[in-house]
Amino acid sequence: MKLLIIANWKCNPMTQKQAERIFGTVKKGIRNIKNMEVVICPPFLYLSGLKIENSKLKIQLGAQDCFWENNGPYTGEISPEMLRNLRVAYVIIGHSERRNYFGETNEMINKKLLAAFRAGLKPVLCVGEKEGEDMLLVVKEQIEEGLKGINKAQAEELVIAYEPIWAIGTGSPCSSDDAMRATLFIRQTITKIYNRKIAEEVPILYGGSVNSKIAADYIKEAKMNGLLIGGSSLAGEEFIKIVKNV
Ligand code: PGA
Repeated sequence: MKLLIIANWKCNPMTQKQAERIFGTVKKGIRNIKNMEVVICPPFLYLSGLKIENSKLKIQLGAQDCFWENNGPYTGEISPEMLRNLRVAYVIIGHSERRNYFGETNEMINKKLLAAFRAGLKPVLCVGEKEGEDMLLVVKEQIEEGLKGINKAQAEELVIAYEPIWAIGTGSPCSSDDAMRATLFIRQTITKIYNRKIAEEVPILYGGSVNSKIAADYIKEAKMNGLLIGGSSLAGEEFIKIVKNV
């Protein structure tokens, strides 16, 4: 399976120029990568200014969220169709910051996933427990409720990111043993909902305080299929190091 490295810029940087600069640095730095896909998820308003001129580059654009309707009276929302029309390929859905600060529930996340699939986007469903919560219970519920009504053909296009909330932006990443335990559990849960083949082929990423020193551990030791990177994705050179190290 190709490795998938996703950069989640969150609410950064402050200007289009800075966004173009980081994007340019990354594009140049990853020119020669093989068996890997890199996805950059900037804030919505920078998407149209970030161009991928060379289709041989293994880089794609992603969004950090999307709405569940395609158009209409929904002030402030951005729809999956609009994103697709900008050649966006991926969309992060259910990030813990959306769940925490914007009240997104599993039901809303399910509607967003369905809408993303309908528009032909590849959704990256984020799951993970808070400090002190039982990973098995939380992740099971997030997956089962998030994937309601999603058929097998759609599930084949799904990406799942395991991001324990206590590891996000804290400098305390999850151990590769715990990440592997979560990966196995996610595959078991997907097997029960769909089948073993789909479960084995769904890319599972790790996210939470990844830097270039530890990035490869999640791929080699925890047998994950890629990474979702927040803070370290904004320093172009550090992000390139992560991509090269894995
Ligand atoms: P972090 O964020 O790498 O800054 O911990 C990861 C994420 O929120 O996706």
